[in-house]
Amino acid sequence: MGDLKETSKELKDLIQKMDDLPILPNIISKVMKIIDNPYSNADHLTELISMDQSLTVKTLKLANSAYYGFPREIVTVTEAVVVLGFLTVRNLILTSTLYNIFVNESQEEREFDRRKFWKHSVATAICARLLVSATAPGQKEEEEAFTLGILHDVGKVFMDTNYHSQFFEVMRESKKNKNEPAYAIERRILNTDHAEIGSMIIDKWNLPENFVEPIKFHHTPGLASDKYMTNVLHVADIISKFSAITYDASEINARLDREAMGTLKLQEENLRTVVQNLEYEMSNADLFLNS
Ligand SMILES: [Fe+2]
Ligand SMILES: [Fe+2]
Repeated sequence: MGDLKETSKELKDLIQKMDDLPILPNIISKVMKIIDNPYSNADHLTELISMDQSLTVKTLKLANSAYYGFPREIVTVTEAVVVLGFLTVRNLILTSTLYNIFVNESQEEREFDRRKFWKHSVATAICARLLVSATAPGQKEEEEAFTLGILHDVGKVFMDTNYHSQFFEVMRESKKNKNEPAYAIERRILNTDHAEIGSMIIDKWNLPENFVEPIKFHHTPGLASDKYMTNVLHVADIISKFSAITYDASEINARLDREAMGTLKLQEENLRTVVQNLEYEMSNADLFLNS
């Protein structure tokens, strides 16, 4: 947040506004606790899902979706939790809960298009998962990357809600001035940016500590000490942003941070596959897009 003396007013204001932040719905904290507890089993998660009708339907839908391709129909939540795994179920619950907060609950028409924002978050999540599976596969890491993608721009929702007029100014500036990245314009106008605010929200919501760095530095991955996940998130963010405009991998490649690409050991060939898979997965992501 720059020089503390200079920004202390903004900092105070920000921290105060953080107190008004909607608390993360109870169900997420419960799910996080179940997953973190080595003694919990599928029954605990099943019980929680079964209490919520829409989550029950979604869990069954996801387990039966073409993506997982199970040979027979899955009819109970218990089976669905077993076949999908804890982490995938956690992401499903997190995604549909946040969708309600970010998209559904914002009634008024706003300049900040929440649906477009949500689509970008889902694309970044899917892309981050694909990048991990292409560079260092592992279910835990892949699902963690997905969660980070969903959450990475959460600071923008906060800005839109709490600093509406300044955020509107940022959006107007960034339309006019394509060369200056939006986070730099935010810093100029608000003395902070959505990445920094996002990392404070993760902390406030008691989400896992290792989510803080990748979110805080997703536009400046060189500053992170947890390089891998931060680079994954950074590259996923850019790919999903530009693949909404073009699926041409070489054009996307030209915009990526060289250092991040090098650290991930991502060749243009892998990138091409990631971009193609992203396109395919987005066309099948209805469950996440209209959560
Ligand atoms: Fe961002
Ligand atoms: Fe983003």
